[in-house]
Amino acid sequence: MSDHIVIERQDAVQIIRMNRPDKKNAITRAMYAEMASALAAGDADKAVRVHVFLGVPGAFSAGNDLADFMTIATGGEGGGEVWDFLLALARTEKPVVSGVDGIAVGIGTTINLHCDLTFATPRTVFRTPFVDLGLVPEAGSSLLAPQVLGRQGAFALLGLGEGFPAERALAAGLIYKVVAEDELEAATLATARDIAAKPPEALKIARDLMRGDRSELFARIKVEGEHFRARLKSDEARAALVAFMTRKK
Ligand code: COA
Repeated sequence: MSDHIVIERQDAVQIIRMNRPDKKNAITRAMYAEMASALAAGDADKAVRVHVFLGVPGAFSAGNDLADFMTIATGGEGGGEVWDFLLALARTEKPVVSGVDGIAVGIGTTINLHCDLTFATPRTVFRTPFVDLGLVPEAGSSLLAPQVLGRQGAFALLGLGEGFPAERALAAGLIYKVVAEDELEAATLATARDIAAKPPEALKIARDLMRGDRSELFARIKVEGEHFRARLKSDEARAALVAFMTRKK
C-alpha cells in the first residue's frame, strides 16, 4: 500500500482514501491499481459489507493524472489499471458510499455515478472537462449520466463541461446529501455503518434489482475506453495536455 491510497477497515466498512493532497488527489496508475485491488479484496471478504471512498480536505480528486495521460498521448504504455479499476467499480457486489469535499473533476465526478450514496460539502463542484481536453466521457458516464440527470443535464455535465456545485448536484439527483465540511466524514461513515448493519443478503438482492442487468454498463465502459485511448493520441488532446503542463500560474 502506498501513501497515496490508504485503505482502512472500521468494522464492516472498508474505507478507500485517495491521499495525494499536493496534486489535489490526481489519480496515478498505481493509485488505480490499489483501488481496484481494494474493491476486489473487499468484495471477496465476507466481513466487509460496504466500501467508502474519501479524499482529503478540499480535494476528492482532480481526475486522472494528466502526466500519465501525456505519457499515453506521446506513445507510451498505460491505461490497463484504469480499466481494471472501472470494471471493479461497476462490478462490485457491495454498496459504495462516497464523501466528497471540494475538487471533483473527471473521474472524481464519474466515480460517484457508481456510488449508491454520495455526500458532498457546499464548496464541492462536480466537473468533467472531457471534451475540453479533446477526450470523451469514461467510466460508463455516457450511459449513467443521462439516466441520472436526463439528456440535457448529462449534456451540460459531459458535453459543455459545466460545473455542478453541490446544491445543483443534489437537485439534479447526482448526490444524496449536502453536509458541512466538518461533518462530511462523520456523516458518510455513519451512513456506511447503517448500511453495514442491514441484513446483507436482502440488501444485495435489493441493490442488484435496482442496478439491473449490468452488461450494457460493462460494454459501454469498454467502448468509451476504446474511444478514450484513441482520443488521447489526437491533436486535440495533445494540445490540451500541453496547455495544462505548460500553463503559467
Ligand atoms: N494531473 C496531474 N497533476 C494535477 C492534476 C491532474 N489532473 N490536477 C492538479 N494537478 C497538480 C497541479 O499541476 C499542481 O501541481 P504543482 O503544484 O506541482 O504545480 C497541483 O496539482 C495543484 O494544482 P493547482 O492547479 O495548483 O490547484 P488549483 O486549486 O489552482 O486547481 C484544479 C485545481 C483541479 C482546478 C486544476 O489543478 C486542474 O484543472 N487540474 C486538471 C483537472 C483535469 O483536467 N483532470 C482530468 C480530467 S479528465
